[in-house]
Amino acid sequence: MLDKIKALHSEIESLNAADAAEVEVLRIKYLSKKGEINALFNDFRALGPDEKRAIGAPLNELKTFATEKINILREALDNNGASEISIDMSRTAAPVALGTRHPLSLVRAEIIDIFSRLGFTLAEGPEIEDDWHVFGAMNFAADHPARDMQDTFFIQRTPDVLLRTHTSSVQSRVMENSKPPIRIICPGRVYRNEAISARAHCFFHQVEALYVDKNVSFADLRQTLLYFAREMFGPETQIRLRPSYFPFTEPSAEMDISCNLCGGKGCSFCKHTGWVEILGCGMVDPAVLEACGIDSKEYSGFALGMGVERITNLKYQVNDLRLFSENDTRFLDEFTSAHK
Ligand code: DAH
Repeated sequence: MLDKIKALHSEIESLNAADAAEVEVLRIKYLSKKGEINALFNDFRALGPDEKRAIGAPLNELKTFATEKINILREALDNNGASEISIDMSRTAAPVALGTRHPLSLVRAEIIDIFSRLGFTLAEGPEIEDDWHVFGAMNFAADHPARDMQDTFFIQRTPDVLLRTHTSSVQSRVMENSKPPIRIICPGRVYRNEAISARAHCFFHQVEALYVDKNVSFADLRQTLLYFAREMFGPETQIRLRPSYFPFTEPSAEMDISCNLCGGKGCSFCKHTGWVEILGCGMVDPAVLEACGIDSKEYSGFALGMGVERITNLKYQVNDLRLFSENDTRFLDEFTSAHK
């Protein structure tokens, strides 16, 4: 019996397997209930006590040895499998599809670029805001309809926590925390409770500019606007300011540019007026300066705010706001050539 054990030992030692199925065949051959090692154990039971003493240890060793060998064969196969996949140098690389910049990102970057050439620096603020920074400091009356649930997404009523409805909240934060001269540009996403359609969405993007210093005048505002319009829409662009109303500016104006499609002659895009509206602006209301801790007798300022979607629509004739947030790559791919 000792010879049989030795023979099996060397047989098992030289075992090899090409795949998991072969390992299993070997395991059954040597280690299953009806396997060769178990057969030896059956013979072992019939032996006398002296023989048992001599054979017991080598027989147990054989079983351990066979179990380990089977495990080693199995592990070797697992490892080979893994390394084959990871080092297959012959495989062609999967093509990497390069995306495009989102049109709103392109236009936002362009707006920021134009204002930074005039010395404006970037300022950002939170999208989840409080009533004070969005409305209170911006001189909205306590019963102003913009605060109404119809327009504003309130997260909590008391204390008032809400999704900002405009980026003017960044103006108030910056004015509270810094001393003039202040010359900032604030891009960001804003939220309003609007029914979603081609012309309105519950979120969109704005860029706001604020300049506060000694002796800032309406002429400074007008020149800044003209510079912006011509950089953005071309050197022939004309601007026109119409009186308007915003709680945070006095006087306030709405700016139109000469229609960039027909050059001001009148077409269906500008409803045959030759002009298209692009932004709101005005001289910062002294009450806003004071609310933010700035002496309105010493300082004055101008502010302006525009919708990035609106500017993008004008520049690229996108006529449905929903396209901007649907992630349809057929739409996004159209802007590949707009990359600078
Ligand atoms: N906050 C205004 C809006 O959301 C836009 C705006 C108008 C911003 C005039 C300004 C401004 O800073 O001076 O409709």
